[in-house]
Amino acid sequence: MFGIRLVDSAQVGTRVLVANGSGVLAGGDDEIAALHRGADDPGRAGAVLLLPRPLRTPEKFVIVGVGAADEAGWRAAGAAAVRAVPASEPLHVVLPADVPPTAVRGLAEGLWLAGYRFSGAVDGPRSVEVTIQTDTFDGYAESLEAARVTAAATWLARDLTNMPPSVKNPAWFADQIVTEAATRPGLEVTVREPDRLKAEGFGGLLAVGGGSASPPRLLEMAWRPEGATRHVVLVGKGITFDTGGISIKPREGMKLMKKDMGGAAAIVAATLGAADLGLPVRITALAPLAENAVSGSAYRPGDVITQWDGSTTETTNSDAEGRLVLADVLAYAVAELNPDVVIDLATLTGANAVALGKRTAALYSHDDSLAAELEAAGRAAGEQMWRLPLAADYTEYLHSDIADRHSSPTLGAGSVVAALFLSEFLGDRVDHWAHLDMSAPAWSDAHHADLTKGATGWGVRTLLRYLTTNHPTQT
Ligand code: BES
Ligand code: MN
Ligand code: ZN
Repeated sequence: MFGIRLVDSAQVGTRVLVANGSGVLAGGDDEIAALHRGADDPGRAGAVLLLPRPLRTPEKFVIVGVGAADEAGWRAAGAAAVRAVPASEPLHVVLPADVPPTAVRGLAEGLWLAGYRFSGAVDGPRSVEVTIQTDTFDGYAESLEAARVTAAATWLARDLTNMPPSVKNPAWFADQIVTEAATRPGLEVTVREPDRLKAEGFGGLLAVGGGSASPPRLLEMAWRPEGATRHVVLVGKGITFDTGGISIKPREGMKLMKKDMGGAAAIVAATLGAADLGLPVRITALAPLAENAVSGSAYRPGDVITQWDGSTTETTNSDAEGRLVLADVLAYAVAELNPDVVIDLATLTGANAVALGKRTAALYSHDDSLAAELEAAGRAAGEQMWRLPLAADYTEYLHSDIADRHSSPTLGAGSVVAALFLSEFLGDRVDHWAHLDMSAPAWSDAHHADLTKGATGWGVRTLLRYLTTNHPTQT
């Protein structure tokens, strides 16, 4: 479907040359070097210089900048290169001698991530075919494989998130993952339907999903490699469409709410990717899937619901639905799955974008080393996050006169308070938990660097880095 071939001699097609931040160009003749020298800031990461050469071979050179020539610089260059050339033209990248494998990884990820287009289907037809001309093949295969798995998982998360909600209901989402998992040995998937959710007490998920003609599901996918000593539980919010429910959203606030399952998409795609890479860490991915709809059977503002752990929540705003479905699943994970680490990803609050803008997730954790590991993983992978406080004194905002807590206080600090709400369900694992409110970066309004317009697949890259880096085989 998409590929990169390493070759040792020039091919036909648009030739892509790279320049570093000091303007040093790899490949090309004196004429190209002279043109390049005259350009404005020529080696900046992601800079593009197009040099058409009518009637000559090759007909076109593209020079892309790698800046500091670190992985991020190479990723930016890859993204710039794939944007500069029409998809129909073969792309031939000339690699400078002796670049490290991380450069190849960055380049490949940039090419593939920015080359994504939504075809209207999950895994529809499209391709990003590239040849890379290099003299050294050593160590590149592994980098390319890591890049390929990362990009493919990100594409999957983007496909799922871009899919219109007329198609994407909870059962459809679960079916897609059952199909994906079936192609990978060692993955086990369980899909709970409403009868079982009721019997097991998933009251938050049933309340939120109760207004929809498409009933809720709980997707559980387990990756249990032999010899794994650590167990990471990943939880993702999977609201396939969020109308707000009876506390209905205004038009502008509702129109993109098909993305409200971006957290679920990211955690399942990352788990599938971890299986592809054969990572030696046990992973359980849990995605509560529901449509928050408006109907006579929808839960009401003012209802008191009973969560999985038996505690009660007063729900005065049906638009605060994400925390209700996550609460059930976090409590279930802690009580039943004995996790070492719990990480949840959720498009939980509009307040994420108010605090941090469009490209940065809010990170919450009581665990400084887990927070640092996630921050480092995000930095390496090219996804931004910023840690915000789980300010204990705001817990009083959650007070309810008639239930154990209140789901939707209106006292401000929306993203923080939502995180505090979730923290109540972590029991003895609360110090081994991280929450990422990724409402804002789950979507991009425009093509930008390695992001394409629409769903971004935010979190897949960070999670795969985290799972790869922090869980080496232990004996
Ligand atoms: N899915 C939304 C949050 C959201 C908003 C995600 C914008 C992406 C972009 C969530 O369910 C929601 O509606 N949150 C409310 C919470 C409030 C009612 C306490 C919000 O942020 O306004
Ligand atoms: Mn909502
Ligand atoms: Zn929502």
